Amino acid sequence: MRLGIISALDEEQHGLVEAMQDPATLIHGMRTYTSGRLAGVDAVCVLSRIGKVAAATTASVLIEKFGVTHLLFTGVAGAGDAGVRVGDIVIADSLVQYDMDCSPLFPAFEVPLTGLSHFASDQRLANLTASAAHGFLDTDFEVAISADERREFGLSMPRIHRGLIGSGDRFLSSASEVNAINASLPGLLAVEMEGAAVAQVCFELGVPFAVIRTISDNANEAAATDFMRFVKAIASRYAFHIVMRVCRGLG
Ligand code: ADE
Repeated sequence: MRLGIISALDEEQHGLVEAMQDPATLIHGMRTYTSGRLAGVDAVCVLSRIGKVAAATTASVLIEKFGVTHLLFTGVAGAGDAGVRVGDIVIADSLVQYDMDCSPLFPAFEVPLTGLSHFASDQRLANLTASAAHGFLDTDFEVAISADERREFGLSMPRIHRGLIGSGDRFLSSASEVNAINASLPGLLAVEMEGAAVAQVCFELGVPFAVIRTISDNANEAAATDFMRFVKAIASRYAFHIVMRVCRGLG
């Protein structure tokens, strides 16, 4: 197997490339792909940048040019439901493009001519990712994130959720907007800007994938500030420990 690991931003996967054995770098299509071994697993790390097109392009190149057989997206997201809090972890069971709307030609959210609106992640990889997230929270969390940081970001007893993630080409920073999206998509847990695009590419090319997101903000009026602080200070430590645990589980 060969695992592709995508994040939008460096802060969402920082440390992984540094942890690789025998890293080799190739620049292609304005992205830097680093292949090597992570905890014994043949892996390729890349930053997609932000948005669905950027993510879809990157996933396609990982599959077609780098031959990855499995794909893991790791990053942050806004909370898509009141029961999901900053510092919680969301693992997608399925993903939807909440801004796909070709109605009345096709039902809202359906990707035209696929008959699908929700794209399911691979159960085995999602289960393994969930186990890795539990391991992180049970064992690494209090060491990786200092007591001061936990206090500052209000990270007490983070929880793991599994369910629907919505992606769209908008940074959501309005409570009324995220509430409206939540109301139109039952079970929505988190909102971000790449996962469902990766899911569609993986579905079309037959590649098993999983998406894991740490909640950085509430997608409300404070989202931009909260997002920047969380991404700078906390995000990479969640991602590093969880992805290393995923690799150990695969190896
Ligand atoms: N990623 C993290 N926070 C987000 C938000 N509020 N909207 C879209 N993507 C995000």
